[in-house]
Amino acid sequence: MFFRQILNDETACASYVFGCNTAGELAVVDAHADLVDEYVTAAEAQGSRIAAVIETHVQADHVSGLPELVERTSATAYLPEAAGVDFDHHALADGELITLGNTVIQAVATPGHTAAHHAYLVTDHRRGDEPWMVLTGDALLVGDAGRPDLHAHGEQTVEEMARVLHRSLTDRLLALPDHLLLYPAHYSGSVCGRGLSGHPASTIGFERRHNDALAFDSEDAFVAALIADVPPEPEHQAEIVAANRSGARRSSIA
Ligand SMILES: [Fe+2]
Repeated sequence: MFFRQILNDETACASYVFGCNTAGELAVVDAHADLVDEYVTAAEAQGSRIAAVIETHVQADHVSGLPELVERTSATAYLPEAAGVDFDHHALADGELITLGNTVIQAVATPGHTAAHHAYLVTDHRRGDEPWMVLTGDALLVGDAGRPDLHAHGEQTVEEMARVLHRSLTDRLLALPDHLLLYPAHYSGSVCGRGLSGHPASTIGFERRHNDALAFDSEDAFVAALIADVPPEPEHQAEIVAANRSGARRSSIA
């Protein structure tokens, strides 16, 4: 299995290129608009093609590289079902699989940061028939849980989103084995979490033991702490979300 984490320090975003070089098929998860050349170059260096461009959710803090990457590679775009975007894509249901040779990606519905949010379990069948890692998007970060306020709107309050996130964490992500590698969508410097680690990787077990956002023994305590001190909103948030829903290639947003 080929796997590379590709970082953007300007927005503290983590993205991923991985998949099966035997089959010659790779996926990009949470592509950043400024890194499209890097994804294409990484795939070319492996002699593989980018077959799948996958989002954990519609991002609010940076413009996605998905539209340009799909246009350049003819890959299939995958988003969580009910993501609310206006471009052609495959809407992934909870539990659905994407198979790239020996690499299998399974969607795990983990709403709360956004109403439509998936984590992705990754299994490399060359190594074993159980998941090796989980890409957690903005649901679970290294040192914090995702903020619940950015996508809350009339139907769901910030508190309701925080409650949904708590259930996603306890019922889905913390139900995973401790040894699973954990790769988030952001790290230190991002406005998408508080006090994030500068190390953009962890394990489920380490976060279970040492993530302050998970240190509460009730949903009410988790929610109260999560909504008590949310970070400032990302700059140009509304424009970025609109661009990411429209599927426009790189916009003029700073
Ligand atoms: Fe996000």
